[in-house]
Amino acid sequence: MRYLEIAGKKPLCGELTIQGPKNAALPVLAACLLGDGPCVIENCPQIQDVEDTLALLRLLGCKTSRSGHIVSVDASGVEHFSIFGAEAERIRSSVLFLGALLGRMGEAALPYPGGCAIGSRPIDLHLAAMEKLGVRFSKRSESGIYANGSQMRGACIHLPQPSVGATENTVLAAVLAEGETVIGNAALEPETEELCRFLNLRGADIRREPDGRIRISGKKVLRPVRYRLDADRIVAGSYLLAGAACGGSIHFHNLPLSQLSALLAVLSRMGVTVTEDGVMRATGRRLAGGNVTTAPYPGFPTDLQSPLMAAFCLAQGTGQICETMFENRFRTAAELRKMGADITIEGNCALVKGNAVLYGADVCAPDLRGGAALVTAALAASGRSRIQGYGYIARGYENICRDFQGLGAEIRLVDDEDKRVW
Ligand code: UD1
Repeated sequence: MRYLEIAGKKPLCGELTIQGPKNAALPVLAACLLGDGPCVIENCPQIQDVEDTLALLRLLGCKTSRSGHIVSVDASGVEHFSIFGAEAERIRSSVLFLGALLGRMGEAALPYPGGCAIGSRPIDLHLAAMEKLGVRFSKRSESGIYANGSQMRGACIHLPQPSVGATENTVLAAVLAEGETVIGNAALEPETEELCRFLNLRGADIRREPDGRIRISGKKVLRPVRYRLDADRIVAGSYLLAGAACGGSIHFHNLPLSQLSALLAVLSRMGVTVTEDGVMRATGRRLAGGNVTTAPYPGFPTDLQSPLMAAFCLAQGTGQICETMFENRFRTAAELRKMGADITIEGNCALVKGNAVLYGADVCAPDLRGGAALVTAALAASGRSRIQGYGYIARGYENICRDFQGLGAEIRLVDDEDKRVW
C-alpha cells in the first residue's frame, strides 16, 4: 500500500509543464486500431489508464512500444475482436473499443466497463447510437456484449445528451462505415475535437457543423500518422486551483488557456490572475463567493469540481457548487471535513464555507479527481497529511509529487515500509 505524505502551508512558486491529456490519449490510442501501419503519438502521458489501453491493444494483436512520452501503435497484425480481461474491466474508456473494433473488424466483444466510484455511468447512449448505425447486439449478458457490425452504414443520430464517450464511440465506428453519419447534440469537449483531428490527419472526413453537429463521410482506409497531443486541461485546472488554495505564483509553460474559460472566470472572481503567457498569481485576498454548476464543455468541468471544493475552503465567503453529472463526486467532502472543512451537502449541491482552518489528517482518495482535491487541501493545511488511494491519483496524474515538488511543496510518495518512492 502506498500513500502520499504532505507537509502543507507553503505557497506554490515555480515553473510547470503540463502533461499530455488522459481523456484525449485514450480515444486516440483506440483510434490507432482503424488501419494498418504504425501511428506515433507524442506527448502521451505515462499514466495507468494509458498503460491499460496499450495492454488491450496488444491483446488484440497490435505491436506497441514506448520511449518516454512517445508511443507507437502498429495495428497491422490485429486478428482478434475480443477484449475480455482485467484491464478492460478496470478502465471506463475500454468501452471505446466497441466503436474502434466495429470499425476495424466489423465485430466486437467486450465486458461492460462496470460501475465507477463517481457514479453509475451507464452506456445506453453508446449502444443506442451503434444500433442506429445498424449494429446488432447478438449476445448481451451480465458480463458483456457481443456486437456485429457487418450491416453497419452511416446514419443520423441525435444524442439525448452530449455524452463524451458516446460521441467518441460513434465517431470511431462511423469513420470507416459506408455512407454519411451525422451526430446531433455531439459533445464539444476539446478531447473529442482532438480525436477528430487525429482521425482527419489519418485521412478521415469529419467536420463540425456551425450548430455543433458532427458530420462524417465514411472512408475505406486510413493511413498511419505521427500526432502530438495537446496539454491536459484538467491537470492544468487542478494545478491552478492548488495555486489558488495555497497562494503563490506559477509560470505554466503550456497552459491550454482557450480550453479553461469557465475555470478562469471562477478564478478571476476569486482574485486569482492568469496572464496570457500562462503566469498565475494568487497573492491577494481570495473570495470563494459565487455559485458554480458543472456542465458539458464549455461549461465548468465536472472533473474540476472536487479540486474547486478544496480551493473554496481556503478562500473567503461561502461558495456553492452544484454537480449535474456524476452523483458520487461529493464523497470528497467527507474526507475534506476530516481536515477541518465546513461543507454541507443538500441534494446535488454543496455549500462550502470559506476561511476554513485546515489541518493535516489521514484521508483516503475516493476517486481520481477527489484525490487531487485532497492533495490540494493537504498542501494548504497546517501539519502533515497522509493520503491513501494513490492508485486513483496515478490513473490521471503522471507524477503529482514531481510536479508539486517543483513548486516548492513538501510532498512524497511512501510505500508500505515507509520507504520514499519519489
Ligand atoms: C468523460 C471523461 C470524464 C468526464 C466526463 C464528462 C473520458 C475518458 N472521461 O467521461 O473524465 O468527467 O466525460 O465531461 O473522457 N450518460 C448516460 N448514458 C450513457 C453515457 C453517459 O446516461 O450511455 C450520462 C453519464 O452518466 C453522465 C453524463 O451522461 O451523467 C455525461 O457522461 P459522459 O459525457 O458520457 O462521460 P464519459 O464519456 O463517461
